[in-house]
Amino acid sequence: MDPLIEAALRAREHARAPFSHFRVGAALEDEHGRTHTGCNIENASYGLTICAERVAVFKALSEGAHRFRRIAVIADTGSLLPPCGACRQILWEFCGDIEVLLVNLDGKTENFRMTDLLPRPFDASFL
Ligand code: THU
Repeated sequence: MDPLIEAALRAREHARAPFSHFRVGAALEDEHGRTHTGCNIENASYGLTICAERVAVFKALSEGAHRFRRIAVIADTGSLLPPCGACRQILWEFCGDIEVLLVNLDGKTENFRMTDLLPRPFDASFL
């Protein structure tokens, strides 16, 4: 199995999802080949929930990573789970047009690029 997918699968085990019971794992590969993982973390104040993808991006940035190659996102769904709108915006702004690997627990995989998932994005270039 692709090590990035394995890392996302392992990260999913740490998900804190007592409200939705929907566990998501993510693994983001930086330009040096290092992997930064994330899982979803829910909160009793539901709106403070943060998705696996954003945890991975923010952890990576906080550790000094700058440029990224790809992200794997894994969940237990038949139809592969695409990143939510908020995560697409963050992924675009901080990672650019990276490859996005969507995976389920049966090993079904589909690859996209961020420009497929977020066409005509808003970013700081407009400011
Ligand atoms: N979630 C993610 O972690 N990533 C996504 O791309 C979609 C949704 C989480 C947030 C929440 O904890 C749970 O899945 C249900 O929405």
